[in-house]
Amino acid sequence: MEPEDRGMVVTPWKVEGEIDYEKLIRQFGTQPIGDELLEKFRKHTGGLHYQLRRKIFFSHRDLDWIFRKLEEGEKFVLYTGRGPSGPVHLGHIVPWIFTLHLQETFKAKLYFQLTDDEKYLYHDDFSLPYTVRMARENALDLIALGFDPKLTKIILDVEHIDALYHVAIQVAKHITGSTIKAVFGLKDSDNIGLTFFPAIQAVPCFLESLLQGRNVPCLIPAAIDQDPYWRVARDVAPKIGFYKPAQIHSRFMPGLGRGGKMSASQPETCVFLTDPPEEAKKKIMNAFTGGRPTAEEQRKLGGNPEVCSIYQYYFFLFERDDGKLKALWEKCRGGAILCGECKLELAGRVSRFLEQHQEKRERARDKLEEFLLSGEERRQILSSLLSKV
Ligand code: TYM
Repeated sequence: MEPEDRGMVVTPWKVEGEIDYEKLIRQFGTQPIGDELLEKFRKHTGGLHYQLRRKIFFSHRDLDWIFRKLEEGEKFVLYTGRGPSGPVHLGHIVPWIFTLHLQETFKAKLYFQLTDDEKYLYHDDFSLPYTVRMARENALDLIALGFDPKLTKIILDVEHIDALYHVAIQVAKHITGSTIKAVFGLKDSDNIGLTFFPAIQAVPCFLESLLQGRNVPCLIPAAIDQDPYWRVARDVAPKIGFYKPAQIHSRFMPGLGRGGKMSASQPETCVFLTDPPEEAKKKIMNAFTGGRPTAEEQRKLGGNPEVCSIYQYYFFLFERDDGKLKALWEKCRGGAILCGECKLELAGRVSRFLEQHQEKRERARDKLEEFLLSGEERRQILSSLLSKV
């Protein structure tokens, strides 16, 4: 099922066109995050994270059930991930920042999957050593954001397959080729690795249940492009004895061009976490804005933050204070700020963020082993099978 509407395409491998999020909720069959659920967040976290206040996270499956279980004393585990096709960009960290908030407030364990297998299979021109190396590089970005090493388990698919394979084949046995073709839009000419891969992405939903020897609820924060994987995983879960994984879905942070999601395939419109700060500044200074052709017109008629990529950067990541964000919107509309000033301010914020992040990222190299799913944990997961043999 490929939702394709006036150019809108949302699959795990392609996001294009103007995204209508209401329509996605209907097409994917998810639920909007309503006031009742926001109230639950308020109650359990003592406030509302800016990404919930701004409806950056806007949709879910079974989040109400996650809270119900929590209130009955069953804590949830978190699961998210990254396909290491190259360096991490700012869009990728939008769901990770929310995941970090959930880890901190609920003291929740996180499984973080790096799908070096998926990216090797998907991109004709990628070698396996490249995606395996990128997985370890991308892990540094996650660690640098401040996740707790005691509560975070990073999974490198290719290196850790010993723990994943026996679960993946149980998942795979319950999915037909025609389901995968329909859900992911695969063609007969696509390689068979891609057909099997969704079984691998389902596995981390169940790892904590296997380690604990009882069912543990799992909540997946990610942008909505990953939802096709969860549709398949949810269908299979009860058939192999697990709870269905729950999801909370985010919108896409746009790129610096005119419309469209931030995408590594357009590097000039995309700030990577490894970009030299000066280069990121240049990308921002060249960005598409909602400004008028001349300063005079801008002062007289005001700009249009609604279509401005710079405003979106503030909205998604770089201005967490709602009052200040609103003031910026009004200044832009009223012609009190010109695009040059607004870009310069953002460029400063982004380059300061990158400088600090890159320092932490280098320090993370020494911590990587501590975060990886250990040999002992992998043996334990495998023994959940071997003990029954
Ligand atoms: P990947 O590498 O495409 O994306 C990593 C995460 O970033 C989200 N994302 C975005 N969020 C906001 N704005 C954007 N512009 C944007 N672009 C991407 C994605 O939804 C994702 O959460 N197959 C996966 C890897 C994976 C995974 C997971 C992701 C394995 N297990 C569990 C999420 C949850 C992938 O290639 O992600």
